[in-house]
Amino acid sequence: MGETWWRGAAIYQVYLRSFADGNGDGFGDLAGLRNRLTYLADLGINAVWLNPWYPSPMSDGGYDVADYRNIEPVFGTLAEAEKLIQEAHDLGIRIIIDVVPNHCSDHHVWFREALDAGPGSAARERFWFRPGRDGGPPNDWQSIFGGPAWTQVADGEWYLHLFAPEQPDFNWNSPAVRDEFLDVLRFWFDRGVDGIRIDSAAVLIKDPDAEPDGDDPYTDRDGVHQIYRAWRQVADDYAGRVLIGEVWLPDQARFARYLRPDELHTAFNFDFLACPWDASALRGVIDATLATHEPLGAPPTWVLSNHDVTRPVTRYGRADTSFDHGDRKHGAPSDLGLGIRRARAAALLAMALPGGVYVYQGEELGLPEIEDLPDGLRQDPIWTRSGNTDRGRDGCRVPLPWSGEAPPFGYSSGRSWLPQPPNWRELTVERQETAESSMLSLYRTALRIRREKLGDGTVTWLPLGEQVLAFTRESGLTCVVNLGPEPVPLPAHETVLLASGSLDGDVLPADTAAWLL
Ligand code: GLC
Repeated sequence: MGETWWRGAAIYQVYLRSFADGNGDGFGDLAGLRNRLTYLADLGINAVWLNPWYPSPMSDGGYDVADYRNIEPVFGTLAEAEKLIQEAHDLGIRIIIDVVPNHCSDHHVWFREALDAGPGSAARERFWFRPGRDGGPPNDWQSIFGGPAWTQVADGEWYLHLFAPEQPDFNWNSPAVRDEFLDVLRFWFDRGVDGIRIDSAAVLIKDPDAEPDGDDPYTDRDGVHQIYRAWRQVADDYAGRVLIGEVWLPDQARFARYLRPDELHTAFNFDFLACPWDASALRGVIDATLATHEPLGAPPTWVLSNHDVTRPVTRYGRADTSFDHGDRKHGAPSDLGLGIRRARAAALLAMALPGGVYVYQGEELGLPEIEDLPDGLRQDPIWTRSGNTDRGRDGCRVPLPWSGEAPPFGYSSGRSWLPQPPNWRELTVERQETAESSMLSLYRTALRIRREKLGDGTVTWLPLGEQVLAFTRESGLTCVVNLGPEPVPLPAHETVLLASGSLDGDVLPADTAAWLL
């Protein structure tokens, strides 16, 4: 695949804390991941994206970074990270890491210095410190996790945090901040990292002093693009490195601006993830995605899940199958049998579309969202910041079941940081590896076929009715997905390469997908 390996890559997302625990403390770590690299090689993915692995007090699962050039001790050491990169490369797996530029941890040395240095200091210029207004915060901005976006410090000033108070926002007008991140990128590229996932990429530029003018005060401000042009120059100094934006924007035209040839290489397609299980809605998202990317020459990406959203098996089994951060529909009844059927079909759809595809750990095992975690164990700051009204994202972050008959299912020799349900004994890797009809077997076969016949390119749609999504790829592979309630006849073909459920002769049942040649 060479330097543009990322154009058609299957990228597996590792939420390190919940992947595999190598030292028995209940938290996943680099040792655990290194032990399981052959699992990932056998799965057939091209790259791994790791959520933040830096030293962190873990107020937001590591998205509160205390030091951008080191590894969280609970996860391991920098030397182990370097070994992981080498071992992954030896297996043909690329490594993508998460860089969090909007904010750091309140334990970051710069923030500590800013607190000590006091009002008016250069150290405070790297953040957004302001005097209050009328005894309250400088403006009425709300944090994305709930509550005010400002917290007052001992000397009376307030600092801005778009997320939790433990995540102070950097001031990107500061040249020191800009230089720091260019250096952080070089630090990791020099260690062999192949790509960077850019956290909260659209909210770096803001002006808390401006009077409200109707525009969003911090999302997608024009000035953000200058930052990514500079980042691209750094990436271009190395061979085969990729910049991937976490860009949640409803407007495709604005989204496209991040993918201009001198900015990011790709960005996550959240419209696809959020889309309900509905043929015309999905067709609309796919067409809009292709239309946005085509003129830019940038490959689209297809995402069904990540560490922030409700697991697809649960989502697709509900009456309302869409995803919305504002309303996670926690606890809404879900028919998991139906959800699994649809999640299997959705996987074949996502993997057949042109461009890159993401697989979030556990998706390949068909794990459901765990909605009945004891509230006292919840770690996601959304739970407390929302005044205990939004149960947040812990339910998709429960540690993986690897083997055996009881929790923690080979994940750890200790006790896992979030409990797994006993019925996950049915879903362990060990169980699924040998079962031909398992989700894991489906993902393995699909990823193997995908490596040969799918990835970067274009689609040719086939008109097979309003409830059916059908298209052919350059290799001749045709993907057909039946989203309607009635079975439909398959189009002419020589072989069925793979199907997400059993076929009835040449008939494709409801909520089923097939790959044909
Ligand atoms: C991104 C991450 C999310 C995190 C937030 C703040 O949305 O995916 O997990 O909480 O940024 O860093």
